[in-house]
Amino acid sequence: MGESTKNDWWKRAVFYEIYVRSFKDSNRDGVGDLPGIIEKLEYLHSLGVDALWLTPINPSTDYDFGYDVTDYTGVNPLFGNISDFQLLLKEAHALNIKLILDFVLNHTSVEHPWFLESRSSRTNPKRDWYIWRDGRSPGKPPNRWMSRVIGKAWEFDQNTGQYYYHAFFKQQPDLNWRNPEVKKAMFEAAKYWLDLGVDGFRLDLVNHLVEDELLRENPFNNPLNSSRSIQEMLPYEWQKHLYDRDLPETHEILKELRSLTDSFSSRVLVGEAATFDTSAAASYYGSGDDELHLVFNFNFFTCPFQPRSFLHTALEWHDALPSGAWPCLALSNHDQPRHIGRFAGSFLVYGESQDAVPKGKIAASFLLTLRGSPFLYYGEEIGMRNSFLWPWEVKDPAGKIFWPAFQGRDMSRTPMQWSPSSNAGFSTAKPWLRPDPSYSECNVLYQEQDPYSLLSFYRKLIRLRKEREALALGALEFIPVTSSDYLAYMRKFNNESILIVLNFRNTMVSLSSLGEAHQLRPPWPWKVLLGTSRKAGETLDLRSAWMRPYEVLIAEPVSKGEVE
Ligand code: GLC
Ligand code: CA
Repeated sequence: MGESTKNDWWKRAVFYEIYVRSFKDSNRDGVGDLPGIIEKLEYLHSLGVDALWLTPINPSTDYDFGYDVTDYTGVNPLFGNISDFQLLLKEAHALNIKLILDFVLNHTSVEHPWFLESRSSRTNPKRDWYIWRDGRSPGKPPNRWMSRVIGKAWEFDQNTGQYYYHAFFKQQPDLNWRNPEVKKAMFEAAKYWLDLGVDGFRLDLVNHLVEDELLRENPFNNPLNSSRSIQEMLPYEWQKHLYDRDLPETHEILKELRSLTDSFSSRVLVGEAATFDTSAAASYYGSGDDELHLVFNFNFFTCPFQPRSFLHTALEWHDALPSGAWPCLALSNHDQPRHIGRFAGSFLVYGESQDAVPKGKIAASFLLTLRGSPFLYYGEEIGMRNSFLWPWEVKDPAGKIFWPAFQGRDMSRTPMQWSPSSNAGFSTAKPWLRPDPSYSECNVLYQEQDPYSLLSFYRKLIRLRKEREALALGALEFIPVTSSDYLAYMRKFNNESILIVLNFRNTMVSLSSLGEAHQLRPPWPWKVLLGTSRKAGETLDLRSAWMRPYEVLIAEPVSKGEVE
């Protein structure tokens, strides 16, 4: 098994994020649930994924759909009960599929009993479990820190005459992680799930756990200097977040959580560090193996469909990581527009062009052959699009605030498209969120029967990744080519060398510059392992080959071991 051990299963694993509300409804209430996931385990197994990340399953007021927890060791009755959960875990494990849970560390719901106590009086023993401060003067919050969503990060409480801090919605008060009792209570919750056998956690907003005690003001930041996307220019980005996130104390907490996790065998911690600052995100790996095992990189969520952007983002990420750290890759998630819509959108991010499927195959190939643990987002394997929602259909509170400037995150949370039958085969009741009309064409049932579908391609790619150590664990070498049309790189492990070439253009592209690149030496015939325009087993001469429009080519030298 080379450098990898059983404890490192997460290094070679393909993860799959399930937005639980939208995956499969089993009890006809229009909301996805745990038994629904059990029904679909066979499907997930046939796709080849190794681990599932479930969005929060805890009881919640569902203001922010699970990310406002009211009980960290319970199960939201909408999704089932603890026995359903244990059954899911058992059945997933029986298929060799691991299960990780979302853990919302930074804040609770305003309805969490801890907060109800905390806000009840200034002298309540739980007062200090949250961040309560006096205003600067009547009517003025303690400082100018901003919420990540809208407005100030402080909410005035009439009853006790103080403000509480919330990095997100005001329905999500931040916990005070400087208080040892908070840490103890939260670690106990973590232990509860680890004892039950969960394989780890996806940690929400890890970089927000601690704030400056003196509440110092953040300096001004001009995002126009550095931003690559609209997301990076929101009002929140006009402050340099020196004092309200990424504080050094956060790392101490995560190190402790890591030790707790390491006291169980083979568990993983995956963190959301909500930042576009690559080195800040990388810092949550600690020295490489003493904080989080994996951290998401937000820059992949805004990366345009350009070989140079993909290359730049990947290299920057690799360079930022401490030695021993393992990259983590995701192109979509439940907070972001689906990448297929971003890449192939004809009208803002909603629409979709003819190129959606071929572009989806390029993106899938990048995600699954780059060095690092890939995270798929449910439905990306069939090319689900970003749905358009009318204001009256919007459920996401962010969408309710900002529609039409931003229609909210519902666009990427619509029900999984299982079949062309009513409600996309997701539920026989009216779904909580309207399914995207594309389901009549774009669904699992049809794509399973089509060998050229995106789904069939994902399956083949994942299978190849499992068969070839180089694709999962190999070193990554980008091949410097003069072309800005395609991306080429090698994955190498022991004697195995695999070449990946991705043509990002809708035109034929010559590979002559690739043939000249110094890493590639004769012999020139290469054998196709997987491709979109050539059959596996076919050989080609790299010096004279042309890539077809949007072609994916994954190949190895005809006689192994002859590439430097
Ligand atoms: C994370 C979650 C997002 C949620 C927010 C507040 O960013 O991914 O869905 O709204 O945290 O908990
Ligand atoms: Ca916080």
